[in-house]
Amino acid sequence: MFVGKKIAIIGVGKMGETLLSGIIKNNLVRKEDLSGSTAQEEHAKKIAEKYNIMTYIENKEMIVGKDIIILAIKPQMIRKVITEIKEVVSEKQLIISIAAAISTHFIEEYLEKKIPVIRAMPNTPALINEGITVLCPGRYVDNHHLQMALNIFGAVGLVEIIQREELMDVVTALSGSGPAYTYIIIESLTEGGVRMGLPRELAQRLSAQTLLGAAKMVLKTGMHPALLKDAVTTPAGVTVDGLMELEDGGIRVTLIKAVSRATEKSKEISQ
Ligand SMILES: NC(=O)c1ccc[n+]([C@@H]2O[C@H](COP(=O)([O-])OP(=O)(O)OC[C@H]3O[C@@H](n4cnc5c(N)ncnc54)[C@H](OP(=O)(O)O)[C@@H]3O)[C@@H](O)[C@H]2O)c1
Repeated sequence: MFVGKKIAIIGVGKMGETLLSGIIKNNLVRKEDLSGSTAQEEHAKKIAEKYNIMTYIENKEMIVGKDIIILAIKPQMIRKVITEIKEVVSEKQLIISIAAAISTHFIEEYLEKKIPVIRAMPNTPALINEGITVLCPGRYVDNHHLQMALNIFGAVGLVEIIQREELMDVVTALSGSGPAYTYIIIESLTEGGVRMGLPRELAQRLSAQTLLGAAKMVLKTGMHPALLKDAVTTPAGVTVDGLMELEDGGIRVTLIKAVSRATEKSKEISQ
């Protein structure tokens, strides 16, 4: 859906560039209404050439006259960047921050203005339009602001909205970090196939497509994963033996602990 606004992305790194290319591919705004900044001039030049957009290394200069400012820098850079833009940012602009562990409250307080701030947690499959983003509105955000954020992140995958910001730590630990956990699962299933004689490339394709297919079954049928698992598990068959090994290795507890530990880490960083 055409957003038709002027968007500035502060920090065109991995995630900033993913959003930039999603916005361009989906024609959400005209290229002349899109700009991005980086820390290094060389990087800014490369982005300008690659996407044919205006790029900057001066954030303050870039955000003037823009409707939406996306903060896509590392969390530890947030304070510095907000200090830079504080003077020029206005209440008519919408700020969307994808920085992990940085609250809307922190940004609102630091800016000392009634600026609408939306916190967003996307994930890397956004690069192929298969991401999932969770949005959480700050206190000055209205439905129109949320709709703009929905359009932007909807261009690169699914979008969910939550109101309770304290849940953003677990969102970060689950869907933000989740692709990394999943790659380990794909890698390990592949290794199992290779160990038992499959060519590596074939084993990797089988693993990845199996995860993708199973994930789509859950999303499309809405069925409980346990019921879907039962449908694969023939009495005294092959699958049940594999499942027993997984349980013996503590896969459930391990994954639950991974999300719990990462949530704690996100909370620690927020403080
Ligand atoms: N990667 C993920 O999976 C993921 C998922 C969800 C959310 N996030 C969030 O996304 C944010 C960015 O992460 P990332 O992985 O994309 O990091 P990244 O690849 O390191 O990108 C950060 C970018 O910020 C630029 N930058 C640094 N200081 C700047 C400044 N003062 N002004 C303008 N640009 C500046 C850097 O420019 P140079 O390249 O020129 O140094 C770099 O391009 C983080 O807050 C992270 O929590 C990431």
